[in-house]
Amino acid sequence: MLSISAKEILLWRERQLSKGGCRESLDLLLEIEGGMSRDNINQLILNFEQKFIFKKDCHQLEKIWDEHISKSIPIQYLIGTTFWRDLKLKVTEKVLIPRPETELIIDFILRIFEKNSEKLFFAELGTGSGALSIALALARPFWEGIATDIDKNALEIASKNFINSSNQKNLSFTCGHWWNPLKHFRGELDLVFSNPPYIPNNVYEELPLGVKNFEPKIALIGGQDGLDHIREIVKGAPSFLKEKGWLILENHFDQGSQVEQLFLDNEFTLVEVLKDFSGIGRFTIGRYK
Ligand SMILES: C[S@@+](CC[C@H](N)C(=O)[O-])C[C@H]1O[C@@H](n2cnc3c(N)ncnc32)[C@H](O)[C@@H]1O
Repeated sequence: MLSISAKEILLWRERQLSKGGCRESLDLLLEIEGGMSRDNINQLILNFEQKFIFKKDCHQLEKIWDEHISKSIPIQYLIGTTFWRDLKLKVTEKVLIPRPETELIIDFILRIFEKNSEKLFFAELGTGSGALSIALALARPFWEGIATDIDKNALEIASKNFINSSNQKNLSFTCGHWWNPLKHFRGELDLVFSNPPYIPNNVYEELPLGVKNFEPKIALIGGQDGLDHIREIVKGAPSFLKEKGWLILENHFDQGSQVEQLFLDNEFTLVEVLKDFSGIGRFTIGRYK
């Protein structure tokens, strides 16, 4: 493989970005396909004399980048990988690419349940790539979790991601519509969380091409007002949570007060709408009585 100077690499990088796309996507491509980490890039910026040997040559990387730009295919699907928290996850067009703001759900949970040695039984509804459940199962090895999804292909990816991330056995995967796969666990769950499809039909039509054309529709659309799935999840929750069990949902940027009311109408207490990195009320949490 050819060794390339820092100057050439940095110029190459700027040339790719001038075609479109964002730096984060390009750096992900460089890391996964080229073997160049963010740390390597920072070192090259500091020392122009350095050289680097890519895993693949620049033409191959450029071909992938050009496809990303010309067809708006998310880079994560082209390289089959994304990073989320400290996980490296396999992703295909069968699963939503987990978003950075969703990472906050893990922080909220770890804050609610501070004592990490206590046993706890959790479920995730609509796990997709498995990001949330895997991160939680790894952070809390004494907890037991079930990750569900209606899509078998998504579950296959999620369970592979779990196996690739650890040797732990505290997470299982089950297929079905929202609460159905948990019918044997009525009244037994300490914690349920979900990032359900919540995009209103008309908003879906306006989504960026990369999302609309490539990410699974079933992961995004939430009906006329976007709340179809959230209503079903909140209404079902009292039958499955233990008393004082927690429900945590992600919602669309403008749904916070409606979801908060839904929680209150279904006997939840300590209900709060929590903000994402941009200060938007993106998550609703509450305790069942
Ligand atoms: C917005 S994605 C969230 C994926 C993942 N939890 C994340 O945060 O990246 C919603 C997920 O819900 C699943 N889903 C959609 N409808 C469902 C249903 N009726 N029952 C169970 N899961 C469903 C989709 O397949 C998708 O994986």
